[in-house]
Amino acid sequence: MSEISVEQFQRLSQHIYQKLGLHFDEKKIYFLKKRVEKRMAALRIDDPQDYVFMVGYADPQGVEMQALANLVTTNETYMFREYDQLQAFANHCLPEVLSAKQARGERTLRIWSAGCSSGEEAYTLAMIVQEVFPQAQSWKCEIVATDIDENMLRRVTAARYGDRSVADVPEEYRKKYLIEDGDEWVVRRKTAALVQVRHLNLNDRMAMRAMRGFDFIFCRNVLIYFDDLSRKAVVDHFYNALNPGSYVFLGHSESVGRVTTAFKLKRFETHLVYVKE
Ligand SMILES: C[S@@+](CC[C@H](N)C(=O)[O-])C[C@H]1O[C@@H](n2cnc3c(N)ncnc32)[C@H](O)[C@@H]1O
Repeated sequence: MSEISVEQFQRLSQHIYQKLGLHFDEKKIYFLKKRVEKRMAALRIDDPQDYVFMVGYADPQGVEMQALANLVTTNETYMFREYDQLQAFANHCLPEVLSAKQARGERTLRIWSAGCSSGEEAYTLAMIVQEVFPQAQSWKCEIVATDIDENMLRRVTAARYGDRSVADVPEEYRKKYLIEDGDEWVVRRKTAALVQVRHLNLNDRMAMRAMRGFDFIFCRNVLIYFDDLSRKAVVDHFYNALNPGSYVFLGHSESVGRVTTAFKLKRFETHLVYVKE
């Protein structure tokens, strides 16, 4: 099998950028090369030129791009990640949104975990919602968990996790919301029932336009892999997907200040969150 050249790498990363919004610069050549080699071996393709052509021009249904997406995404996640931020959600934002809804006589709560990976974030939110708001069961309450990576979505549906995923779950939550099964932990049915799993590419304009009526969007540790242009497109869709008075939570090191001024920044203790007024 011949080695992928710099020029082929650039063309391939351009195709990936157009479809997925993910930005691979030349520092990532080794990372991408390893994954491409794996795909080429599986497809019995020897020449990287043929593979790059196939991805760009002979993949009308996007089957190969999907296979590549499953390989090139970074899926690191665990329950109760960025705990302080979740406290801002549980202690301030969620009660505020719930009481505004109650005052308006609304009984729906919709949360989107965008780039959910294997689902730990979505189930964390489901646990917090049940804890802060036990009436959740009598409301129409849903947490929509989306990702581009099909392998990860299968794991969300399984709702079964190893020790690493649950290491930061507080003891009382663990007892209430998880069941120990051998060396794994299964999310209890009542909690799992709040989470709906969907395949969604954040860079797919049509699919993003269909996402509407959310009270919270969590998109943490996802947009770091995008560049400003693709990040702006996603954040503009988030704005339209949110109800007025709703919140976006990004990862600690992420900010959308450079790409949009549409959201207002709000500080809760040490945490900054974005609100659509
Ligand atoms: C590092 S994980 C973050 C998981 C979780 N949000 C957290 O903070 O723990 C990033 C996820 O974003 C997903 N992702 C990357 N690009 C995407 C895209 N264009 N559309 C949808 N999901 C994408 C990846 O598949 C991956 O599962």
